[in-house]
Amino acid sequence: MANNNDKIICRCEDITESEVIEAIGKGATTADEVKRLTRAGMGHCQGRTCRRLINQLLASKLGQSPEDQKPVTQRSPLQPVALKILADS
Ligand code: FES
Repeated sequence: MANNNDKIICRCEDITESEVIEAIGKGATTADEVKRLTRAGMGHCQGRTCRRLINQLLASKLGQSPEDQKPVTQRSPLQPVALKILADS
């Protein structure tokens, strides 16, 4: 659980260091697993800001190097398309 001295790891989703550590304690071993348990990395920046911090925490808690962490699954950028464009195609 978050406390007042907790560091924010994911600014977009307001996820703290203790929440990421709790996810690791529940068995998360990759940034994707932390993402599924906490939503860290699912925000507007799609993890560009927090991914490195999550990997550093995972590495430190799992006794690995941050370079050992697998990259998170990237999603294609999506944007709304007007129905008229689809109807005309
Ligand atoms: S800071 Fe984590 S998704 Fe943007």
